[in-house]
Amino acid sequence: RDGLPTYSLADVREHKTVKDRVWVTYKNGVYDVTDYLSQHPGGNKIMLGAGGSIEPFWDMYGVHKQPEMYKLLEKFRIGNITEMEERKALSEDDPYANDPRRHPALIPSAEKPYNAEPPVSLLMQDFLTPNDLFFVRNHLPVPNIDPESFNLEIGFENGKMRGLTLDVLKKKLPSKTVATTVQCAGNRRSDMVKIKPVKGLNWGIAAISTAEWTGPTLNSVLRACGVDIDTVDCGHIQFEGLDKGPDGTIYGASIPIELARMLKDDIIVAHQMNGVDIPKDHGYPLRIIIPGVVGARQVKWLGKIVLSKDESTSHWQQRDYKGFNSSIDWHNVDFDSSVAIQFLPVQSAICEPEDGETLDDDEEVTVKGYAWSGGGRGIYRVDVSADGGKTWTSATVEPNGQSPYKSWAWTFWEVTVPIPKEHEGKVELICKACDSQYNVQPDSVEGIWNLRGCLSNAWHRINVQVPK
Ligand code: HEM
Ligand code: MTE
Repeated sequence: RDGLPTYSLADVREHKTVKDRVWVTYKNGVYDVTDYLSQHPGGNKIMLGAGGSIEPFWDMYGVHKQPEMYKLLEKFRIGNITEMEERKALSEDDPYANDPRRHPALIPSAEKPYNAEPPVSLLMQDFLTPNDLFFVRNHLPVPNIDPESFNLEIGFENGKMRGLTLDVLKKKLPSKTVATTVQCAGNRRSDMVKIKPVKGLNWGIAAISTAEWTGPTLNSVLRACGVDIDTVDCGHIQFEGLDKGPDGTIYGASIPIELARMLKDDIIVAHQMNGVDIPKDHGYPLRIIIPGVVGARQVKWLGKIVLSKDESTSHWQQRDYKGFNSSIDWHNVDFDSSVAIQFLPVQSAICEPEDGETLDDDEEVTVKGYAWSGGGRGIYRVDVSADGGKTWTSATVEPNGQSPYKSWAWTFWEVTVPIPKEHEGKVELICKACDSQYNVQPDSVEGIWNLRGCLSNAWHRINVQVPK
């Protein structure tokens, strides 16, 4: 392969569209795959790698790792990369210098702190989201925690703290695994932004992911410290993270003790995510997982559990992650007047086809998506319409293996619906879910708009093109 031109990674990044031609790299080779795109048996997915390395994607789709594939790829070689991929300059005064590397498929909505969602085309590939594709919502830099000296502090406000080492948490206490969906309160915020601007990251429909979390239950951890969760005299359980802002801000959250009692045997002091140590972005080495509850309370890099009379005083408990009516704006908002979000409302979204896609067929369309509700409420039904909500077809709902009253994980669904005869080249597809308390999603976003763009769970609508 000597004699071919050399290119920088920046050159490759400029080639991510058919118009500019689509380049990818594999090891130190540069390949122009534009003419192969329409023949690719994996369809559009090849575009996930456009302008960058395909290696992480070939790791994901192992079917590529065979000699014929490397031979095929070489046909498209146009050059070589000589430089090593530059690691962003580590600056001592950059508080984010220690942040981990992320999967190139993640779509960031902010870099520092890092926030990203997986592409919709990969969200439903697995029931358990692969760890490196799990959405990331960080408010502060990722802390570097030494597992050897780590000690989880547990105690009462103003009282003595007990410490539990990782070894004790992992080996001395009985362990439980729970499959739980984590959803950010801001998931689908971009639908609210269309009505009126809000303050918050512009999340699409993928600020939600599911994993199996393993560790001792909160109940057993407290019991090991001599605390009986059912009788202890306190109002709230506070969780404190070890992530710190440059100004000393720490991340914290709390849940009322009644909620902790209700969920005590399903709240996990987790050290594993999908069978491996929790990755750095998701809370290494320890995280609290409170099923059915908003993402904001699932404190990562958990350092302290405090039994207190009061709620956490953290900004994210008091001044964020609360709901308001749609007439409240920044000039008249009183955060103390609203209750912190805990259980989330029923939610669903269409993942396939994707918004803006052109369908293959003008007779019918197969629609797939996810549905989930807070509080362990399972999904009884998902309805899909291709005619603006005049008629609905109920989807086949895939059992998630959990009881409808303790359904912590999401539900995938699929349905084929007819395309109306009168469509003028495009149709709107809508989905809505119904949970095990017969809660349904609101039909429009106007009535639920709020200044922070939280709890965006109106009917999900996408537009697709229909071939003539
Ligand atoms: C098949 C994804 C890049 C060649 C597939 C499949 C997927 C996929 C999902 C279907 C697997 C299945 O049906 O089990 C991707 C992604 C890529 C990528 C995400 C990059 C980001 C490429 C490139 C080439 C290629 C660069 C060749 C130049 C093929 C071939 C198959 C295939 C030949 C069929 C394999 C078989 O069925 O034996 N790809 N692909 N792919 N891809 Fe890719
Ligand atoms: N815990 C700490 N310590 N710091 C944080 O910034 N973000 C919270 C929560 N726990 C956060 C945290 C929010 S708002 C969400 S939605 C979830 O973590 C996101 O979890 P994930 O990044 O593993 O997807």
